[in-house]
Amino acid sequence: MSPDGEPMVRATSISRSFEGIQVLRNLDLHVQRGEFISIVGRSGAGKSTLLGIVGAQDTAFRGKLLIDGSDVEELDRRQLAALRRTTIGFVFQDFYLLPNLTALENVLLPAVFAGSDLEMATAQAREVLNHLSVRIDDTMTSVLSRGERQRVAVARGLVNRPQILLADEPSASLDDQSEKTLFNLLDELRAEQGFALVAVVHSGRVLERCDRVLELREGKLHEA
Ligand SMILES: Nc1ncnc2c1ncn2[C@@H]1O[C@H](COP(=O)(O)OP(=O)(O)OP(=O)(O)O)[C@@H](O)[C@H]1O
Ligand SMILES: [Mg+2]
Repeated sequence: MSPDGEPMVRATSISRSFEGIQVLRNLDLHVQRGEFISIVGRSGAGKSTLLGIVGAQDTAFRGKLLIDGSDVEELDRRQLAALRRTTIGFVFQDFYLLPNLTALENVLLPAVFAGSDLEMATAQAREVLNHLSVRIDDTMTSVLSRGERQRVAVARGLVNRPQILLADEPSASLDDQSEKTLFNLLDELRAEQGFALVAVVHSGRVLERCDRVLELREGKLHEA
């Protein structure tokens, strides 16, 4: 546990380039505990790149990144993996579900790797999937609709009760009503569990309900 008052995420002067093209340029981001931040920006602005860095997946950046008070640069591979498994929940833009596992099995996989209490994880996973109207049966996720798979991906991000959930366009494939159900549930779970939420968002309805909107432009975040 980090010292009191230490933000959930403290990213200072983060830069990231790919093949000589600079995507993030001395970017700063502070995320407070429990806060809900929306990230917006045009396609290719670097939103997914930023989430991958804050999610401790991409460590090839310059700058300083503290997550829950830990300096990511000082962690070894095992400690980084533990941070990704327990402190951080991640919803990928492309979901990355295992196609031949069921929804419930996909959601539970991170709990298995984290050595979590599987009975508790299963109960929570069932509740979240039910709430989001995803079928809990033997159906493989490969045959679920895109929107259903998106909701499975969100449920998986929540399974280890992270302190921060990073969600890359988590309602991009959902209709208005399903989007509303999803964000109502995230609000409820945040009130209960206190996790911060950083989401890449396009929908105006979602932007209205977050604490802060930040626009990624020219490699930096701007208050929007
Ligand atoms: N691993 C990589 N190798 C090379 N280039 C990359 C890599 N990851 C991202 N990029 C480049 O970095 C830029 C930002 O990509 P990123 O996926 O972060 O954008 P984005 O804001 O999430 O876009 P979108 O809204 O389309 O999802 C793009 O030009 C992309 O091609
Ligand atoms: Mg993206």
